Amino acid sequence: MWTQAIEDAVAKTKANLTKFGDRFPHITQGTAVKQYEWGDNTDWIEGFYAGMVWLSYEYTREPELLEAANRQLADFRRRLDEDVALDHHDIGFLYCPSALAGWIVEGSEDARRLALDAADRLMRRWRPEGQYIQAWGPKGHPENGGRIIIDCLMNLPLLYWASAQTGDPSYAEAARIHADKSRRFLVRGDDSSYHTFYFEPETGSAIRGGTHQGYQDGSTWTRGQAWGIYGFALSYRYTGDAHYLETSRRLARYFVEHLPEDNVAYWDFDVEIGPDTYRDSSASAIAAAGLLELLEHLPEDDADRAYFTEAVERSMRSLVEKYATIGEPDAEGLLKHGSYYIRGNRGPDDYMIWGDYYYLEALMRLERKIPGYWYERR
Ligand code: GLY
Repeated sequence: MWTQAIEDAVAKTKANLTKFGDRFPHITQGTAVKQYEWGDNTDWIEGFYAGMVWLSYEYTREPELLEAANRQLADFRRRLDEDVALDHHDIGFLYCPSALAGWIVEGSEDARRLALDAADRLMRRWRPEGQYIQAWGPKGHPENGGRIIIDCLMNLPLLYWASAQTGDPSYAEAARIHADKSRRFLVRGDDSSYHTFYFEPETGSAIRGGTHQGYQDGSTWTRGQAWGIYGFALSYRYTGDAHYLETSRRLARYFVEHLPEDNVAYWDFDVEIGPDTYRDSSASAIAAAGLLELLEHLPEDDADRAYFTEAVERSMRSLVEKYATIGEPDAEGLLKHGSYYIRGNRGPDDYMIWGDYYYLEALMRLERKIPGYWYERR
């Protein structure tokens, strides 16, 4: 089953490259037609498409895919040099599955340099006064100046990796302080999570939790919970700090325990469920890849191993059988029923390029033991 799903994903990635050249898929605006919008490398999501090209190349070793990945790399270099829409924390999402991938897969020195330069760009979001990485907006922004978000856990690997590469501990120090703060304030006592948290920018003292893309301030946005599962597991991989592993495990238990019958998440764990409630298939794809990362770190005799292994199997089966576009050769996306920002009417019930990326990453982990591009392989 996994092989058929990978082959379908690779075929669609190749078809998209043929049809749309060097353009990138963008988030849709709640339109009736379920296809991507295609455009320039200007959002926070283009790295995922690059990652799909790298995964497809690793699966097939076809030179055309490597050429496409390298053309995209050149575009990511241009984007960094021209500083196009990079004043936010999502630099890891952009530059791990593109530049770090180029270093991991091909050993490209240019790609390594690009990933290191991207880490420097991300460090410009570090706020020494408050001791956190500011997610959005300029320094001092009245709403966002003191705000962190759970998604940022997935941007920290770029910083840990940069310290390991350069011997300069400052990147990893910032990442650890930020991860600790996220653990303390974004994760709640019942193992659910806030999407975002506000601090006093000058002192770093805590103000309150809130949401941006979730249902309401105290609710648990499913994709945020999934970012946390995967992100804390990665912080554990880089630091060996057992607190992070435990946090990933707690978030994972909550996620799995609160799934509906078909094992694919709705967009928020606290939203009322009815026939019209939107799913977020991308949350389940991220959680599956994150659980597979978490499982890498659990000992053979760990009591949770079977529980999480079966949970991944169930969710991935459901995604492949009920959500994937297998058998729809003209579809541009891999997973239907993803949701970006429901309350903002952006991409409700559509393809999400990160959903497609993590779905393919999870399949490649299951089938080929290829873990994506968040760390170097041993
Ligand atoms: N990182 C933004 C999102 O997950 O929508």
